[in-house]
Amino acid sequence: MQSLNLDLGERSYSIHIGPQLLEKPNLILPQLSGKQLLIVSNTTVAPLYLEKLKASLSQAKPDLIIKTCILPDGEAYKNLENLQKVWDTLLKEGFNRKATLLALGGGVVGDMTGFAAACYQRGVNFIQMPTTLLSQVDSSVGGKTGVNHPLGKNMLGAFWQPRLVLADTDVLKTLPSRELAAGMAEVIKYGLLGDLAFLEWLEANIAGLMSGASQLVSEAIARSCQCKADIVAEDEREGGKRALLNLGHTFGHAIETEMGYGQWLHGEAVACGMWLAADLSRRLGWLTLADVKRVEKILLAANLPVKPPKEMTLASFLQHMAVDKKNVDGQLRLILLRQLGQAELVEFNELPLLEECLTDALTKTHSL
Ligand code: NAD
Ligand code: GLY
Repeated sequence: MQSLNLDLGERSYSIHIGPQLLEKPNLILPQLSGKQLLIVSNTTVAPLYLEKLKASLSQAKPDLIIKTCILPDGEAYKNLENLQKVWDTLLKEGFNRKATLLALGGGVVGDMTGFAAACYQRGVNFIQMPTTLLSQVDSSVGGKTGVNHPLGKNMLGAFWQPRLVLADTDVLKTLPSRELAAGMAEVIKYGLLGDLAFLEWLEANIAGLMSGASQLVSEAIARSCQCKADIVAEDEREGGKRALLNLGHTFGHAIETEMGYGQWLHGEAVACGMWLAADLSRRLGWLTLADVKRVEKILLAANLPVKPPKEMTLASFLQHMAVDKKNVDGQLRLILLRQLGQAELVEFNELPLLEECLTDALTKTHSL
């Protein structure tokens, strides 16, 4: 097991990464504030892992009151209507302020459980047990929680840090390969935005990573979490540097919102978004054509898309990008690449360049 710390003063917490963590209740029990635990999961993950987790906790602490709330599976259900089910369960079961919520699932379950915890009785304890690669390398760390609105992705939410993150790498064995690829998009993101050496390591090991080689995958998770933890420790509320973690996301969220949540996986949309950000950076004279081809090569090697879906148009991109959370007073702000391994937040005013970049991506059959 590898352990990292996210340093946020009195709200600091550990991130443990390794096999068989579902069966290590002693990591969880010290983080509970009372005797009530609500495990939130979904209809796919619960049949696979819920009983194992419950059994290990009950065996270690027989007087622990464990209740469960099983949500429908999918990004399309990441909304207020389904969040209400978590609060309904907490209230019906008489959960008090000392309750703990535990998210057992991917980023959808994690984001929803965290938001439910942030609001319940003005904030209760919460633990993340991420079960997808994407949630192990990104969404479980850093305290962004929330749900989607029909008009915008993740538009309702709160910053609410977990007490603990437990990434059990064994659970990735049941993850569909498309989901593994989607998670790899966020891993590649860390290399592109701030760590050229990690990007080079990923390029050297991408075949092994995609085949699920557990040592390599664990290493990629730990390096990704360290990168995220360093950034969040410096800028928890996204006043500056944390925005860099949104590389590819402005384009990606436009794709997710326009296509209907769940059609393109979040990681797929981010992959295409990172390619667009790289190409736009090239058009600004920051990256070379060879750099963009390098970005394209690693994304394709991770079975990720680099071209936007055919349903997208220039107008739909621009419309959704205009409501991105990073924008201030109507000013479009994008994360672009000054060079590979160095992202920057840019107040972007070169609309013709952006339109050219998107139009070419939407119309040209070849990528460059
Ligand atoms: P997801 O939660 O929808 O999980 C993907 C699929 O894998 C689901 O069908 C799920 O049921 C299934 N699954 C999960 N674990 C499994 C396992 N071990 N075996 C088999 N199937 C399994 O998607 P995701 O990619 O984990 O997360 C995407 C979400 O995360 C998006 O809503 C995105 O906005 C959010 N996100 C949040 C942050 C953040 O900082 N909070 C960062 C990145 C992404
Ligand atoms: N995934 C972006 C962030 O956590 O800030």
